[in-house]
Amino acid sequence: MPLAKISPSMLSSDFANLAVEAKRMTKNGADWLHLDVMDGHFVPNLTLGAPIIQAIRPHTEAYFDCHMMVSNPSQWVDDIAKAGGQMYTFHIEATQDPVGLIKQIHDAGMQAGVAIKPGTSTDTVIGAVAEQVDMILVMTVEPGFGGQRFMAQCMPKVTQLRELYPLLDIEVDGGLAMDTIDVSAQAGANVIVAGTGIFKADDPAKVISIFRNKVNE
Ligand code: DX5
Ligand code: ZN
Repeated sequence: MPLAKISPSMLSSDFANLAVEAKRMTKNGADWLHLDVMDGHFVPNLTLGAPIIQAIRPHTEAYFDCHMMVSNPSQWVDDIAKAGGQMYTFHIEATQDPVGLIKQIHDAGMQAGVAIKPGTSTDTVIGAVAEQVDMILVMTVEPGFGGQRFMAQCMPKVTQLRELYPLLDIEVDGGLAMDTIDVSAQAGANVIVAGTGIFKADDPAKVISIFRNKVNE
């Protein structure tokens, strides 16, 4: 499986100091920064969009992993690309034309990811979608908020996707911490998102390094 990428979720950062927080995470060993875009419609919460991502962009060289929890994912592709987004992960539940959307994202110069909510079957992505995306995100909480409890019942989806797609990046997001990294890594997830688990840790560098070792071992 591909090497670990640790992607702290900026949703748990101090929003008044985003540039400082982004730098703090890369200094602590983060590979990616996970940026949760929510539109108050696909999920019952509002967070940030392209203008904020653009504002953080000059302050870090980290890869920007944009998780688009929005009802109309094709609407924001150009804005996020211009803002400096690098991975554009849309939800399969939010589009009728995933293959067209993946092409739009690639044409905009970004990598394309597809996310599935806890209640969504892997059948929705296996085949044409999985073959064209650069990453599959298996949500391990209901999207919308940080600090929720990890849903271990999502692990069989990770195992199945890892068996089918040994070279693909498979990301998990929601409730990742010291007590949930083992099952995630064993199932085959290699991109680890954590908000609370990293930002609220006493020693984020240590958490990031443990996460990385668990995935790579
Ligand atoms: C939730 C977001 C997550 C969130 C994870 O909808 O997609 O990225 O920040 O937060 P934790 O790691 O605290 O569960
Ligand atoms: Zn997320």
